[in-house]
Amino acid sequence: NEGINRALEALRNGKMIQIYDSDTREGETDLVIPAKAVTYKDVKWMRKDAGGLICVAVDPVASKQLRLPLMADIVREASKTSESLGDVVEKDGDLKYDSHSSFSIWVNHRDTRTGIPDLERALTIRKIGEITEKSLSGDGVRFGNEFRTPGHVALLRAAERLLDERMGQTELSVALARMAGITPAMVVCEMLDDENGKALSKENSKEYGKEHGLVFLEGQEIVEAYLQWTGAR
Ligand code: 5RP
Ligand code: ZN
Ligand code: CA
Repeated sequence: NEGINRALEALRNGKMIQIYDSDTREGETDLVIPAKAVTYKDVKWMRKDAGGLICVAVDPVASKQLRLPLMADIVREASKTSESLGDVVEKDGDLKYDSHSSFSIWVNHRDTRTGIPDLERALTIRKIGEITEKSLSGDGVRFGNEFRTPGHVALLRAAERLLDERMGQTELSVALARMAGITPAMVVCEMLDDENGKALSKENSKEYGKEHGLVFLEGQEIVEAYLQWTGAR
């Protein structure tokens, strides 16, 4: 698929692309860029033009090695001593479009001050990319030596069985990173519509992509390409 090849090429060059999940899931488009390549200008771009949450999706193998917990599990555990948390934690069937949320913890790199300015968020994001790479290369890294929580960058933990289990931008972006042969830590941020208070429609997202020279991919084509890629290995 030509779009997939162009997307992999863009990602290898540290460039932004767009991923739309599907009409039957969230029906949202995210701006997506490799964590290791992010500059403060990319953070500004996502915050002003996309407008959603700026998160970093981390490969399931690295997430396990770094011991990144799911936020829902943390809250479930904490609810043993605080009843109000038990009421609020995500329950089966809560998400109308998926089995579970991929949210892990929110972090700042320890070399940031407040963690929110574009330069500081970009630093935290690049360092997440670096620690993901190190953990996958077998370096015995300790996440807490470099990061603290609470912070201003949301970590997303990709599902253990990746696309066999979940087809959110969390898993779709990580699958693309694996195919591209780059570090599977990917920044995602939803595109929102400033006019009507909704997510930006697929058509308008595509239009934006055209204007800005971004490759636009849909979940299904990524799933198919990833299946082929894993089959061929
Ligand atoms: C974090 C989100 C976004 O939808 C993001 O695209 C990742 O989540 P998912 O994998 O569920 O699509 O919820 O802002
Ligand atoms: Zn979402
Ligand atoms: Ca999403």
